[in-house]
Amino acid sequence: MKEYDLIVVGELNVDLILNNIEKTPEVGKEVFARDMTLTLGSSSAIFANNVSVLGTRTTFFGKIGDDSYADLVFNSLQKSGVNTDYIIKTKTHKTGITVAMSYAEERAMITYPGAMSVMSADDVSDGLLMKGKHMHVSSIFLQEALLPTVHLLFKRAKSLGLTTSLDPQWDPHENWDVDLEVLLPYVDVFLPNEGELMAMTDSTTIDAGIKKILAWSNHVVVKQGVDGATLYSGDKELHFPAFLNRKLVDAIGAGDSFNSGFINAFIKGYPVERCLELGTIMGAVNTTAQGGTGAFVSLDVVREAAKEQFDFDYIID
Ligand SMILES: Nc1ncnc2c1ncn2[C@@H]1O[C@H](COP(=O)(O)OP(=O)(O)OP(=O)(O)O)[C@@H](O)[C@H]1O
Ligand SMILES: [Mg+2]
Repeated sequence: MKEYDLIVVGELNVDLILNNIEKTPEVGKEVFARDMTLTLGSSSAIFANNVSVLGTRTTFFGKIGDDSYADLVFNSLQKSGVNTDYIIKTKTHKTGITVAMSYAEERAMITYPGAMSVMSADDVSDGLLMKGKHMHVSSIFLQEALLPTVHLLFKRAKSLGLTTSLDPQWDPHENWDVDLEVLLPYVDVFLPNEGELMAMTDSTTIDAGIKKILAWSNHVVVKQGVDGATLYSGDKELHFPAFLNRKLVDAIGAGDSFNSGFINAFIKGYPVERCLELGTIMGAVNTTAQGGTGAFVSLDVVREAAKEQFDFDYIID
């Protein structure tokens, strides 16, 4: 029996979310936002938070500053049951922050990466990896010290018997400097959104992008916002439409919440078709409350949102 179902290796930061912005800001001028939240940010942490709420025994490995933003991150993760013993506080770098300006379903973001940029694959010990069944990594392009050897981390995790997943997230430099042919064979579930897939494969359509990577891939799940998600594995292709949310709050973190529904089920051994459905419902649940974690207060609250807003019975053991 492993101590953890899941080890999340990734970046940690806080989000300052500005909502109800009256108009697009311009340099030299000022605009009002009529709502704001300071909350747990970063794709990896939102994923860890939500997957833990769904019942996955989760530990986190990452680097963070020694400051009050770190306290917010630790408190949020611990409240949701995520183990934080392996998070390293560094005095050399501050905790990162993302400022998100939200316009309906899209948003403009500025990230100060801070401590997340100094964590490397070598920092993750075999001893820690051996404590978990599954490793998830997110946002590799934000983690500059991790990116060059991330394939070695995945290779090590696989050789130690873990299953693995990767959400690449956007590359702010748009260099997409990763060799998918080397990396993807060690990734059991690859979870890009459609824009990331096309950019990473230098393709103009999802189909063309999938064609380029399918031979190196295990399961690829392409997230398509309000159009749902599509799973590709071998010659199997399965689309699942999004659940329509008539009372959308915001879609921040919908991708991470999708990942949490998918991976929670994947670790439990559910067929990938069912994982796809459970990812899609969690992406939708995410949009019923503010930010990436607002809807994931407890399993009961998640179940209630799934039932009341989408008529979906979320039952999983
Ligand atoms: N407005 C919405 N209504 C219902 N479901 C949604 C909505 N937006 C997203 N989802 C669900 O969440 C999933 C993931 O969202 P999306 O495609 O936006 O991921 P992403 O671009 O990776 O997001 P993120 O910015 O969080 O990384 C979608 O595949 C869909 O199932
Ligand atoms: Mg995403």
